Amino acid sequence: GGGRAELTVLVLGLDNSGKSTMLNALRPPELRAQHVMPTVSHQQDRFQSGGVSFSAWDVSGAPRHRALWERHYRAAHAVIFVVDAADHLRLVVAREELELMLAHPDMFGRRAPLLVFANKSDAPHALAPMLVAAALGLEKISDRPWHVCASSALSGAGLADGVAWLAAQLR
Ligand code: GTP
Repeated sequence: GGGRAELTVLVLGLDNSGKSTMLNALRPPELRAQHVMPTVSHQQDRFQSGGVSFSAWDVSGAPRHRALWERHYRAAHAVIFVVDAADHLRLVVAREELELMLAHPDMFGRRAPLLVFANKSDAPHALAPMLVAAALGLEKISDRPWHVCASSALSGAGLADGVAWLAAQLR
């Protein structure tokens, strides 16, 4: 490895899934914000993990911003898709958004690995990662490696494991 200096990772997911909180938790402690605000449209963030430098785009999950996701597909080396594992009803919407993304011409058939965080695993009634994988239909994905990982962006639990998987795919 050691070829590419910085890898571009898209951090996507519906609004309120925890994307901004997650990116804040991945930052070195001295750079962490005290209060995470809802993402206005999209913002860039950089962090190091597992020997890989990530340049992450946190794209707002608010419905009016979803067209913005597509602008970042072409440059993405990997995608982190964040879902609120405790919001069972919206998992159906998350699945639709994920399927749209994977079918997009700039994404379809590319090897760019997909990491799904089953976030808010600390919340009551959060679904286990295997159930989130089933709800999202991940088993149908055949063009790229994928992995689902339980996480709590609030406590940081699971984040390092997920990012280590991603780094191993990209090294
Ligand atoms: P948008 O910017 O609107 O797209 O939302 P987002 O996906 O960036 O979500 P954000 O990080 O703003 O988090 C939304 C809410 O969920 C906040 O109140 C967070 O504190 C809360 N939250 C995020 N992650 C977790 C988690 O792991 N567990 C729990 N219990 N709450 C979380």
